[in-house]
Amino acid sequence: MSAPASNLTIDADRLWSSIIETARFGGTEKGGVRRLTLSEEDRQVRDWFRAACEAAGCTVSVDGLGNMFALRPGKDMTKLPLGIGSHLDTQPTGGKFDGILGVMAALEVVRTLNDAGIETEAPICVCNWTNEEGSRFAPAMMGSAGYVADLPVSDILARTDAEGISVGAALDAIGYRGPEEVGARKFSGFLELHIEQGPILEAEGLPIGVVEHGQGIIWYDGRISGFESHTGSTPMHLRKDALAALSEIVLAIEGLAKAHGPNAVGSVGEAVIARPSRNVIPGEIAFSGEFRTPDAAILDALDKALQTQVKEIAARRKVDIRLDTIWRKEPTHFDPAMTGAIAAAADRLGLPHRPIVSGAGHDSFHLATVVPTAMIFVPCKDGVSHNELESAKPEECAAGANVLLHAVLAVAGGGA
Ligand code: GLV
Ligand code: MN
Ligand code: MN
Repeated sequence: MSAPASNLTIDADRLWSSIIETARFGGTEKGGVRRLTLSEEDRQVRDWFRAACEAAGCTVSVDGLGNMFALRPGKDMTKLPLGIGSHLDTQPTGGKFDGILGVMAALEVVRTLNDAGIETEAPICVCNWTNEEGSRFAPAMMGSAGYVADLPVSDILARTDAEGISVGAALDAIGYRGPEEVGARKFSGFLELHIEQGPILEAEGLPIGVVEHGQGIIWYDGRISGFESHTGSTPMHLRKDALAALSEIVLAIEGLAKAHGPNAVGSVGEAVIARPSRNVIPGEIAFSGEFRTPDAAILDALDKALQTQVKEIAARRKVDIRLDTIWRKEPTHFDPAMTGAIAAAADRLGLPHRPIVSGAGHDSFHLATVVPTAMIFVPCKDGVSHNELESAKPEECAAGANVLLHAVLAVAGGGA
């Protein structure tokens, strides 16, 4: 017996239970999650996800980068599946919603369709993309980058973490280097639900954001070489202080982002002093930096201006500064038909919505380069993310999952 699809809703309690249940894999005392990509905790959540998808009648396969695909058949298996999902890895001090909501909601869509006895026209494929976060291995969105051939698979497999462990070795260690050829799995389109990770929806009291654009991103790796010497006996004018040079770079990045605002951001997220000691002038520092903006021309301008300022800082302070661009992702423009399906689904459910730009990076940015793609945002508390305090309410998650469900029915063909 199949229920009418038009007033179908997901099981909000079941969705919430999936989120809470998986949060124990890498759960922290403060209520967050530490589940670095391809870690033991990542293996545990992947095993959970595989078992849950198989119990829901899906066939699960894994590609050579550990990307996971759970296929729910459709009526017409000559049609390409609609991909839905996100990522299950987290930041070192991450929350339990970033990425996880999108995967759990995709699973919940499958479970809801099963309960209602609805077979969609096209198959549906629930995805868990490897290393969206880019914290253990750079860059972010690595599994989906390999999938769309934005980076060669061999290059990705060779990337190493701070301990020198490669992506390939980490995949083998947790048993998730799968047999499927990377990129062989094809989709008709892709939809991803995610928390906003910013303050707009909450401030405006809106339950749904229809993501129309994603920011372009540049990531840098930097190294400053000055000279280690005695803090007490080295006169100020003779110092080659790497940390003082870094301080100027931090402020240059901040200043440039502000000057190109309001839609540009810039940060230094990591800085490591080699051989730190309170009475040694820092001689060597490694750091990372980034800019993000939805405007490609502004991204160019920020990059150019930073390179110029860094040269000037190096010359004035008599230190060597290497600034390598290790990743550049152009701004994303999502597919109007897919954003339209999301807006129509929200309208059908009586959920007010607004167009929005994604500040964070998402696997959907890569998917959008090969198939029609769009994203749904729901609010999160105080816009806080990449923090153990990250929080969203059960009803906010459920609203997003219901929009995903109805967008899936519209795009994959599930009957009105
Ligand atoms: C990942 O979450 C990113 O936006 O860098
Ligand atoms: Mn995410
Ligand atoms: Mn994230």
